[in-house]
Amino acid sequence: MDPVEYEMLRHMWFPVARLADLRDGVAGGALLGEDLVVYGDGHDVTVAEGFCPHRGVALRLGRTRDGALECPYHGWLFAGGSGRCTRVPSLPADQDRPRAALRTFPARTAYGLVWTCLAEPRHPFPALPAEVDETWQLAAGEPYTLNCGMRQLTENFRDKAHFPFVHADTMGEVSKVVDPYRISRDGWQLGWSAPLGSEGVPADFAAEFDHRLDYHITLPMFASIRVRSPSGGRRLVAQLAVPVSADGMRVRQFWLVGIDPVTAAGGAGITDVLAFEQQVFEEDHPIVENQRPAEAPLDLHSQVHTAADRFSLTYRQVYRELLESFKEHS
Ligand code: FES
Ligand SMILES: [Fe+2]
Repeated sequence: MDPVEYEMLRHMWFPVARLADLRDGVAGGALLGEDLVVYGDGHDVTVAEGFCPHRGVALRLGRTRDGALECPYHGWLFAGGSGRCTRVPSLPADQDRPRAALRTFPARTAYGLVWTCLAEPRHPFPALPAEVDETWQLAAGEPYTLNCGMRQLTENFRDKAHFPFVHADTMGEVSKVVDPYRISRDGWQLGWSAPLGSEGVPADFAAEFDHRLDYHITLPMFASIRVRSPSGGRRLVAQLAVPVSADGMRVRQFWLVGIDPVTAAGGAGITDVLAFEQQVFEEDHPIVENQRPAEAPLDLHSQVHTAADRFSLTYRQVYRELLESFKEHS
């Protein structure tokens, strides 16, 4: 990965674990080559370096005690928030503890995910479109780890021209022609709307045709699609491609689905939508892991484009601007 890009991404928020995966209050995570441990009670969560400063055991194997993290090897205890070592069980009570602390990182929870930023955050915390408010029911799917770049996966998520070839099993008959579309831009966010037939819609919803897809992305990688059906039913699928390795060639794909229970149409529940989208993602994985180069190139002349690729071209252009702006301000 380009060193400037690597540095830029360290200043941005990424999810590193699902809240649901905190077993005994602890989960492992990785971001840009840093192994991390996440610990806490779900409301108060700490993100810290992943290995114990005593003998280097992976702290994701530990457990929490009253919000503090206990190392599984010799039971050293690290406080929530500060990461400070507050107990060394092998020492007599009257003996001073060594000064030790885990390096901690900013931590936030949102959408059932724990987020962190490795260096001082320089961009606002990314959010789903405002339409998806607290009345929506959201669920975070099982994450996947994939061998490809963050931008490659993000481009795949909104690429409509692949639906009839990659998603014939889940989406059925889909028009191969992509009608021209316009992209709107607001800062580092892009959006556009496209009509859709019954494709991409869980069977229970499929009776209703003429859906609309509203795409939204906050760079670098938080992408979502809201689907509106003619009766007013609304659902959401979002993808968050997280660069876990320092070279940017390995990503952890977090994803969310949502339904607006007020207007949900067709009776499909959140578990139906999760199962459907999981199948869709699994169809994409052999494709995105077998593209070369493994990361979407930012040199716009190195691949051939058509009008249907307007999004990926705009995304690459705006991503280049994002890098330029980071360089200017650092
Ligand atoms: S390795 Fe963690 S307490 Fe010893
Ligand atoms: Fe796809």
